[in-house]
Amino acid sequence: MRTVVLRVSPDSPEPAQIAQAAAVLRAGGLVVFPTETVYGLGANALDARAVGRIFEAKGRPANNPIIIHVADASAAALLVAEWPERAARLADRFWPGPLTLVLPKGPQVPDVVTAGGPTVAIRVPAHPVALALLRAAGVPIAAPSANRSSRLSSTHAKHVLADLDGRIEMILDAGPTAVGLESTVLDLTTTPPQVLRPGHITPSEIEQALGDTLSQSGDHVIQSAEPLPSPGLLPRHYAPRTPLDCCEKDQLQQIAALQEEHRRIACLKLEGTAIADGPNFLVISLPADPVRYGARLYDELHKLDAAGVDLILVEVPPAEEAWLAVRDRLKRMRRKWGEKVIE
Ligand code: TXA
Ligand code: MG
Repeated sequence: MRTVVLRVSPDSPEPAQIAQAAAVLRAGGLVVFPTETVYGLGANALDARAVGRIFEAKGRPANNPIIIHVADASAAALLVAEWPERAARLADRFWPGPLTLVLPKGPQVPDVVTAGGPTVAIRVPAHPVALALLRAAGVPIAAPSANRSSRLSSTHAKHVLADLDGRIEMILDAGPTAVGLESTVLDLTTTPPQVLRPGHITPSEIEQALGDTLSQSGDHVIQSAEPLPSPGLLPRHYAPRTPLDCCEKDQLQQIAALQEEHRRIACLKLEGTAIADGPNFLVISLPADPVRYGARLYDELHKLDAAGVDLILVEVPPAEEAWLAVRDRLKRMRRKWGEKVIE
């Protein structure tokens, strides 16, 4: 299959390009489109065969459910068995935006979307291209991140092409995505609600909007593949191909001073940490601000994968709520869960 790439303006998408993409979706095809978080691999959510093709294209396990994207809260309410007051309140406060709500599924939603489960995950993306596509297609769009299963999500169209060229009909290329990390996933089927995947919208912001506390079950990383409450919780996920490990600033400085000859190390440090480049030690400085850091992380890792270094070392960001999503993703990227890559 030839993958067509259409350039589209991120702020005021050209109606002709959007109409073409909407036609592909309505015909059961796969269209990659930008959201404010990462690129999504979209299919008509009401067409079970089209959604099945998402699993094929990604090599995604059939037990991993997919988020449905809709144009507004009223479209979300049509896909669920109940639309509780808590959902209405959060939708009002955070949509369009990077918050995904898990609710009891309605009968219209094909089982393939929810991996046979009783709940459905829904969000309204805050990207003009995504919203224009949703309106033009006139159907809800099921879309996981646009990457091969267990790989890094895509924040640029070139990341999508590297992973999925020839496996999808179309890519709408609107340049880099702004947030850069996947949405916060919040389970509203439990009392109190529970964050299944941290993201740009923090637990405190959600608690403030709800006027209620969230479930504090601590670290939601699960160790086994069965059952899968939310496969984004698996210990290893969203990983670069290159082995990656995390370490504290002083450890990083010690490793840099060793000037190893037998392997090329790349280090992602925080701005302000003093570490010198060496012949075999490439230093990349990322903003010491969690939002700007999150926006760049995947692109830097995609570049390092392409550059072919032997090891990526990441300076652990502060243990603060604002860094929750970044720390969550870094934790899951470590090559050996619970084991160090650095000796
Ligand atoms: O920002 C995002 O959420 C991006 C953009 C494209 O919207 N999408 C995304 O999708 O990251 P994906 O499939 O890569 O991650 C969705 C996460 C997975 O961890 C999945 O297991 C979980 O949401 N999920 C989906 N449906 C669920 C459900 N019904 N219950 C619990 N978790 C669910
Ligand atoms: Mg994903």
